[in-house]
Formats: sequence, C-alpha cells, structure tokens
Amino acid sequence: MSLFGSRKAPAQAVTKVREEVPAAPAQDAPRAASEPRAVASAEDRARLDTVWTRWHGKLTQNSDLIAAGATPEDAAGRVREALQQIAANDQANLPKVDREKLIDSITAEVVGFGPLEELLAQDDISEIMVNTANAIYIERGGRMVKTDLTFRSEEALVRICRKMAQAVGRTVDTQNPMCDARLLDGSRINIIVPPLAVDGTHLTIRKFKKDKLVLSDLVKFGALTEEAAEVLRIIGRVRINLIISGGTGSGKTTLLNCLTGSIDQNERVITCEDTAELQLQQPHVVRLETRPAGSEGAGAVTMQDLVRNALRMKPHRIIVGEVRDAAAIDLIQAMNTGHMGSMGTIHANDPRGGLARLEALIRTGPGYQSLPSHIIRKDICDSLDLVIQTQQLSTTGQRVITHITEIGGMETDSIVTQDIFKYDFKANVLKGMGVLRPRFMDRAAQYGEQDNLLRALDLASGDRL
Ligand SMILES: Nc1ncnc2c1ncn2[C@@H]1O[C@H](COP(=O)(O)OP(=O)(O)OP(=O)(O)O)[C@@H](O)[C@H]1O
Ligand SMILES: [Mg+2]
Repeated sequence: MSLFGSRKAPAQAVTKVREEVPAAPAQDAPRAASEPRAVASAEDRARLDTVWTRWHGKLTQNSDLIAAGATPEDAAGRVREALQQIAANDQANLPKVDREKLIDSITAEVVGFGPLEELLAQDDISEIMVNTANAIYIERGGRMVKTDLTFRSEEALVRICRKMAQAVGRTVDTQNPMCDARLLDGSRINIIVPPLAVDGTHLTIRKFKKDKLVLSDLVKFGALTEEAAEVLRIIGRVRINLIISGGTGSGKTTLLNCLTGSIDQNERVITCEDTAELQLQQPHVVRLETRPAGSEGAGAVTMQDLVRNALRMKPHRIIVGEVRDAAAIDLIQAMNTGHMGSMGTIHANDPRGGLARLEALIRTGPGYQSLPSHIIRKDICDSLDLVIQTQQLSTTGQRVITHITEIGGMETDSIVTQDIFKYDFKANVLKGMGVLRPRFMDRAAQYGEQDNLLRALDLASGDRL
C-alpha cells in the first residue's frame, strides 16, 4: 500500500493513473521529473509503514496539539512542527525525502482527509470514488481513471469517512451504514459501509466546482451549439416550466444552474435541494435543503415538505434540485398555479422516459395511485412546457444535450411532444429540427425576446429549411 497521499505532492503525482476505459493494456503515465522515486522494495515499504504508525501514535498522544478553532493552515503548521520534532528524536534515520513524505502523509491524515487531500485540491477532477482502502478512482475530463493512491488501511479510510460525516453533524456506523452529506467546501459525498457494502467502505465525492460552468462553457465543450445555447438562455429567462432529464452524472444540475443564469434580477427564486449545489447569481434567492431522519428515525424533512413550504414563501419560481419522490406533485402544481419558470431535474434516459418517470413519481403520492393515467398526463401536459435531455456519451465521456423537447397537447391518452433540437450522433452536434414557432414564442414576445428566438431557431435549422 502506498503511503504517499501527500497534500504537498506535485499535481502530476495523481495524474499517474491507469486508464480504465480503453482496451489497450493498462499503463502508468510517465513520472514527473520532480516527483520523488517510490521506495523500491516491499521491505522498505513495510519499514516506512512501521515508522508512519510510530510517529502517528506519538503525535496523537498529544491531544492539545491543535487548538480549538484553529484554521486548517494553523493546524497543519502545528502538526508539521510536532512531526519534525518527533522525526528528529526518532532512531529511524530516514533519508530526507522519505521523512518529508511521511510528515506530509501524517499531516494530511490528521488535519485533512488523508490521500484525498490532493485530489480535493484539483479543480479539474469532478468525482472521486474510493472503493475500499485499496483503490481510489477519479473522473477527469469525462474519463474515469484509477489513481495510484490508496489509504493505509480500512481503518484509516473509516476514520476519514467519519471525520467527513461528523463535520456536518452526521454519523456513520453499523446503525447508520449509509450517509449523504456535504463537505465544508460544498462537495457532495456518499458513504456506504459494511455489511451493506460487501467488500468494505466506499466513499463517493462529487467535487464542488468553484467556477461553475456557464452556457458558453458548455458550448466550448461541445455540449450544444451557440444557437441552442441562445434558445436555452431565452427559455431560462421567459419563465418556461421545464424538467431536465438525464442519467446519473450526465450534467443535469450543471445545466439547471446555467439556465438560472438568465433569470431576471427582480424575481424571487426558491431552490429546494437534497444537497445545496446550485449557485444562483440573483440577489433574491432562498436556498432550502432537505434533512434525513436522525438516529432515532425522526426529524426527516423531505423534498415534498420543502416544496410545500416554499409555496408559502411567495416565490416567483421554485427550483427543485432533483425530483425523486411525491414532490413531483407539488412541483407540477406550482408550475400550474402561477409559479411559471419553475424547474427540476429527473433521472431518465430520454424525454419520454422523463415524462413517464414524472407520472410514476406523481403516483407515489397518497390518493394518486389509482388515478387514471390520462388525468395525471393531462396535469403534466397543462403544467410542463419543456423537457431538456442530458447524456454522458459512453464513447468519449463527453456530456451533451441530446433533446430540447416541447410538450404539445394530449392525443387520446398520450402526451404529444415535439423535438425542437435533437442530437445528431453521426455528426456529433445538437441540431435544430426546423421548428420555427415553438409554443413558447408568445412568452418570448412578452419579454421582447421574439426576434432573438426566431434568429437562433432559424440559424440552428438552416440546412433543414
Ligand atoms: N457539459 C459539460 N461538459 C463538461 N463537464 C460537465 C458538463 N456538464 C456537467 N459537467 C461536469 O460533470 C459533473 C457532473 O455534473 P452534474 O453534477 O451536473 O451531473 P448530474 O446529472 O446533476 O449528476 P447527479 O445525477 O449525480 O445529480 C460535474 O463535475 C460537472 O462540472
Ligand atoms: Mg445533480
């Protein structure tokens, strides 16, 4: 097992990864010139492990080392100082490079999150997945790769997981073997421990992105065209009721955040999320977050509770991070009762799947189970204007928008939809489908956006007309 989860290690250290996806044999990337050589033999590694444990034990004997309320920098400084002292009095007589690595590693574990520290510090890593102590994967640039980092032991991983959970008042143990929480930097975490996770503790971190992506970034990354982005800007502004549908990690929340970018400054917006991820730029925003049940099983505040409460707070719009329970009913009702421009995300593989899931979620509400489908569908149809579909391409890992689909009316018992934009998988581009007068044209006109919308749709559908 490697000891070298150093927070001071050069960035290249963690780019030393094995590609998981390609068929070619797995290979390590070249080592950066500045990176110290790993200790060669298993014997040397075992020796360093022993020294690590000894120094860590000596350090943690001093419970007053870190003053209450110390900043992470101060705490790290104190720990490093103490470790230098321990090292100086120790008989191990290690080469300087190994001594520094051990000090880095112990400091990262005592003050921070061990080997995860350096991964958390890199903004281009979007996800960190720890599969027991022996394997840490990351996602970078849409690609999932295995790092060479490991935890020293399962216990060390459990300690770090507990520390993460405790920081936000949660507990992880056999009574509470699953935990959703947020790190202080805003990153979203999930922890699952045995016996539910059969092989050991698993930790998944969706890294908080300090610089949130905006529509022009998505254009740059090829998720959509400039014309489609202009249409989405208008959709976000002119109060269209919509859901963003997509698979896990396909970019739903990011797109939702982008759409909120064009909401007018004078609107009062209430966001309801399981973990507050959205970062609206408007001045008049209220952020609400659900709460899981406490250890006695009481005190849960569900998404439905939040959306109901939000409706009493005089919002112009309600934004639901993820619709995954009977809150679907309240969101649809909000859309239909004057809170135009309300939005939410849903897990589904295509727009029709998104509508079907919405219907299924509505059915989970008491009294809705036995309602005939056409009544629920009519409600959806009367409330919802649009479904936007996101997808992470399995071939390249790229995240794209595959559909911007308008809800038409009902035809017998079915909801009629019309694609305004659809991804062309051969040409790898989101194409306009030749719809020049979408149903929301009148709304665009109310906001003085009619000409902009016409122009963007016209350009996007150029070769079809
Ligand atoms: N179009 C894009 N291009 C590149 N990266 C993107 C794009 N959209 C999202 N990302 C990045 O992908 C990661 C996942 O995005 P996001 O959180 O929006 O997905 P999600 O569908 O909401 O996931 P979940 O289902 O877990 O809620 C984030 O790190 C985000 O910054
Ligand atoms: Mg999300």
